[in-house]
Amino acid sequence: MTVILGIETSCDETAAAVVVDGHQVLANVVSSQVDLHARYGGVVPEIAGRAHESLITPVVAEAMVEAGVNDEDIDVVSATHGPGLIGSLLIGVSAAKALSLGWNVPFIGINHHEAHLYAALLEEPDMDFPLVVMLVSGGHTMLIEFQDHGKYKLLGATVDDAAGEAFDKVARYLGLGYPGGPAIDELSKEGDPDRIKFTPPMRNEGLNFSFSGLKTAVVNYVRQNPEAETADIAASFQAAVVDVLTHKARQAARHIGAKGICLAGGVAANSELREKALDVCVEEGIQGFLPSRAMCTDNAAMVAATAWWRMQSQGPSPLDLGADPNLRLPFID
Ligand code: KG4
Ligand code: ZN
Repeated sequence: MTVILGIETSCDETAAAVVVDGHQVLANVVSSQVDLHARYGGVVPEIAGRAHESLITPVVAEAMVEAGVNDEDIDVVSATHGPGLIGSLLIGVSAAKALSLGWNVPFIGINHHEAHLYAALLEEPDMDFPLVVMLVSGGHTMLIEFQDHGKYKLLGATVDDAAGEAFDKVARYLGLGYPGGPAIDELSKEGDPDRIKFTPPMRNEGLNFSFSGLKTAVVNYVRQNPEAETADIAASFQAAVVDVLTHKARQAARHIGAKGICLAGGVAANSELREKALDVCVEEGIQGFLPSRAMCTDNAAMVAATAWWRMQSQGPSPLDLGADPNLRLPFID
């Protein structure tokens, strides 16, 4: 039995979790800074770093108390070391290294994207490979072939804005506040998704995505139709994003002969996307897995779960492993 403390501070959530053997979550504490950043309409890196610094110790302590474990019960300390905001990553990496030195246990640095991939497996460990994972967050939109543990191939990615970024920008333009995804998701329930036809660029061109033109299309529509209902615009925009995401996930699954499709990242919390992605899986006769909403957004349980796999395949990280804001997944060709 291996008890792993996970720490996640790559963006604006200060999180700590205790996970046994990669799947038994004893505690998963997330302290969101969303209120601190809301009035600026987005994450302010300096504010995020300072908040992590004051929150990290209480959040780790809370996770340990909730899990009912003491210092001597922890076998490994892991933290996200990239990609993300440098001032935020440094806090989590430094805290994890200090704890590993103090407790004399190994330290493992984890790639944030890899952790999002493992969030799905944490809750559903028996999924068959290969899988298509659609990682849709505020910073990234990627279709990844998950061939086996540690073996990933990039099938497609956005050439401009990420899907979550598109939600956030459109929500800001429509005056719905920050973060935009949950606001659009909620308001769309009252709107007509067929009212306006928005089509994202590149819908029928391979597995890459483009979302920046969609925001411009929404702005142009509102200028020309100032009387339009905001709920209809939100629902029609969301329908366009979900349509292109699920269309390409289906194409990707067919292309690699996937046994299933997983969603990952903050946008995977979107109700419409969750429903339509499951429809695709049923139609294609493959497995579909949607992590719980808590596991879609940034959390440390997924970091600790990834560290368990990492520990078995590669062992601990050196203590001079740095925070890397531009860290990439080591994709195979
Ligand atoms: O993965 P995440 O928590 O942070 C990173 O970007 O790494 O993703 C945050 C993004 C934001 O853009 C937010 O608007 C979006 O996920 N999001 C949603 C929903 N909940 C969060 N987008 C659409 N519908 C939602 N329900
Ligand atoms: Zn994330």
